[in-house]
Amino acid sequence: MAASSAARQFFITKPPEVCSQDSMTKDILEGLRHKQKYIPSKYFYDSVGSELFEQICELPEYYQTRTELKLLSEHATQIVRGFGHGNLVELGSGSNRKIRILLDAIEPSSLSALYYMPVDICSAAIAKSSAELRQLFPLLNVEPLVADFTRSLNVVKGNSPKLILFFGSTIGNFNQDETSSFIKNVANRMNPCDRLLVGLDMVKPVHILEAAYNDSLGLTARFNKNILRAINREMGANFQLDIFEHCSYFNEQHEQIEMHLRATKDTLVLLSGIGASIMIRSGETIRTEICRKFRRSGAEDMFDQAGMRIDRWYTDPKGWFSIVEVVLA
Ligand code: AVJ
Repeated sequence: MAASSAARQFFITKPPEVCSQDSMTKDILEGLRHKQKYIPSKYFYDSVGSELFEQICELPEYYQTRTELKLLSEHATQIVRGFGHGNLVELGSGSNRKIRILLDAIEPSSLSALYYMPVDICSAAIAKSSAELRQLFPLLNVEPLVADFTRSLNVVKGNSPKLILFFGSTIGNFNQDETSSFIKNVANRMNPCDRLLVGLDMVKPVHILEAAYNDSLGLTARFNKNILRAINREMGANFQLDIFEHCSYFNEQHEQIEMHLRATKDTLVLLSGIGASIMIRSGETIRTEICRKFRRSGAEDMFDQAGMRIDRWYTDPKGWFSIVEVVLA
C-alpha cells in the first residue's frame, strides 16, 4: 500500500520514540477521522510528556499521586506479605517511586529471587527508572520492557507467583469496553496464587476533580498540547500548537474527566508522513484523554464480570483514592 510504504520510508532514519509506526498511523488516522476527533492518550508519553507528567504528580491540585503513595507506604508490609520470590510486573511504570516503597518492605535477602519487570511505552522513562533501581537494589533482577500494553499483554509473563501492578488509576484511561477486555486478558494470564494491584481514583466533588486537570501552573495544559508535538514529530504532521487551547472538565453522566484540545480557528492539518490531511473547524475539539472515576460498587462489578474479585481495599480517610487487591474468583 502506498501510504504505509511512504510512512516506512519517511521514518527509516529515525525510529519513532513511542510506538511502532504502522500502528501509530492507524491509531491517529482512525482517531482524527472519527466524528468526535480523538488521539489515544498513550501518545502523551514521549520523553517530554513523561517528564511533564512527573511534574504534574507534584502539583498541589493533583492529589492522586501523593494519596496513592501514602496508601502504599501505610500498607506496604501487608501488600507484599508472603512475596519472597516470583515476578513483579508493573504496567505503565513511569518513575520508580511506587515500586521502591514495596521493595523496601520486602526482606532484603529475597530480592535476588525477585524479577521486577517494568513495562512502559516511554523508553526514556523506563531506562532512567531501571538504572536508578539497579543502583538502589543491586540484588534485584530488573527486566525492563518498552511496550504498549494496550495492544498486547504478552508482557505479563513468567512464573508464578506474580504480583501485577497497575497504579495511578491509569485503568481509568480505558473506556468501559477496553476496561473489560483488559481485565479479562489479565485474568487469563493469572494463576490462583497471583495477585493484581490496581490504583483507582474515586468519584469526588467536581471542583476537586476539575482542579486536578486545570492546574494553576498550566502544566496540564502543556502536557495536553505536547501530544500534538509528538504527532508532529512522529508523523510529519503540522499541528500549530498555539491555535489549540487546553480544555478539561468532568463529564457527570460518564463520571469521567475528559481532556480536549479545542481549535480556535479553522485549520487544515497535513500528515506528510502518510500523505493525509485533516480539516479541523474552529471550536471543534480533539479528545486526548478520558480519566474515569470509580465507585466501590462499580469497581466490584467490573472485576466480578471478568471472573475476579476484590480481596482487599486500601482507601484514604476521605475516600479519594483506592488501591485494590484483586485475585481470581
Ligand atoms: C497517568 C492516566 C493516571 O489520568 O490522571 C494527568 C494522566 N492526565 N493529568 C490521569 C493525566 C492529566 C493521569 N494518568
